[in-house]
Amino acid sequence: MASKYNHLRQRLKDKPAIWLVTGVAGFIGSNLLETLLGLDQQVVGLDNFSTGHPRNLDDVRAAVEPDQWGRFSFIEGDIRNLVTCQRACSGTDYILHQAALGSVPRSVKDPIATNQANIDGFLNMLVAARDAKVRRLVYAASSSTYGDHPDLPKVENKIGRPLSPYAVTKLVNELYADVFARVYGLSTIGLRYFNVFGPRQDPKGAYAAVIPRWIAAMASGTTAYINGDGRTTRDFCFIENCVQANLLAALSGEDSANQVYNIACGEQITLNELFALIRDSLVPNFPDAKYINPTHREFRVGDVRHSLADIQKAAANLEYQPEYSVRDGVRLLTAWYADKADFEGANGAGVGTRDRLTRS
Ligand SMILES: NC(=O)c1ccc[n+]([C@@H]2O[C@H](COP(=O)([O-])OP(=O)(O)OC[C@H]3O[C@@H](n4cnc5c(N)ncnc54)[C@H](O)[C@@H]3O)[C@@H](O)[C@H]2O)c1
Repeated sequence: MASKYNHLRQRLKDKPAIWLVTGVAGFIGSNLLETLLGLDQQVVGLDNFSTGHPRNLDDVRAAVEPDQWGRFSFIEGDIRNLVTCQRACSGTDYILHQAALGSVPRSVKDPIATNQANIDGFLNMLVAARDAKVRRLVYAASSSTYGDHPDLPKVENKIGRPLSPYAVTKLVNELYADVFARVYGLSTIGLRYFNVFGPRQDPKGAYAAVIPRWIAAMASGTTAYINGDGRTTRDFCFIENCVQANLLAALSGEDSANQVYNIACGEQITLNELFALIRDSLVPNFPDAKYINPTHREFRVGDVRHSLADIQKAAANLEYQPEYSVRDGVRLLTAWYADKADFEGANGAGVGTRDRLTRS
């Protein structure tokens, strides 16, 4: 385990802080919550359940001790409302801002909704954080900000033009955070996540991410699609690495603040390789998975072809060291799905797995 991260966790246990996690009922937010409560922190969560789920909070409740759960308070509310943001920020030391409408295709279909949550909501959070005099606001930025820049690996200071409305919103977040640091002295760090995956990522709906979607499809024996020829590459990042980055970013010194950092593994994998990796990981629990082959279809509008992060800046300034490779993450994730007593209900997978696949 990374030594700086270990040290930081001990420090937090010894001297707990008050945290606000926005988007707490979502995939990344609920994992942040679980780690923070596990470290005996006091946590306020904010979410409007637009893409997050109460079951994610139930899952966290089941994973932590009752007294740890007792340190959590939840506000059901919307970051598009400034008063709600002010209420949530009041008295907090650190903010981990995850609430946003994710997904490139969603933003292509409804750019106004994406703009409202991701830009209006973000600005409200900055204003509320500034007024509450929080120590640091760490926010979810995105690799989509690299847009059409051809260089690989992606280095923080070389970005291209955004390829989707979603990417515009994430770029605007960075611009606003930078201005709030200069004009008001608000301390922020943006984490440009590269395809995070792990437990509680929603496998359902038109805008589901590829890994949970494939697992649900493979486990249910329904068609698993690859958009394009499968030679598209991504730098997939297991959730525990992302959680580590958030905690490091919140507590890092001021000289590392008011910047953005790539958060990934620094490993490139093609979608075809990833598909095979997931399928092989599922086979011990779901033997029929070995017969499943992907169906290729059109490339998606707004998707970048290749993605690979240079993570040296986060390593140097935050002492970020990803502890889980893609392979580790896929193994843990497929085990998590298999461990669910009733796989049919796993994270709302609702895929009728038991009817379709034989569990070993
Ligand atoms: N998952 C990834 O691979 C990835 C990659 C890059 C960036 N991000 C960013 O990370 C953050 C978290 O993503 P995630 O994968 O956990 O998505 P998610 O959809 O699981 O979580 C987002 C949460 O924010 C909440 N939310 C949305 N709009 C809100 C609003 N107006 N008010 C209050 N709550 C609201 C949703 O209900 C949900 O619980 C997002 O900002 C996303 O853009 C994620």
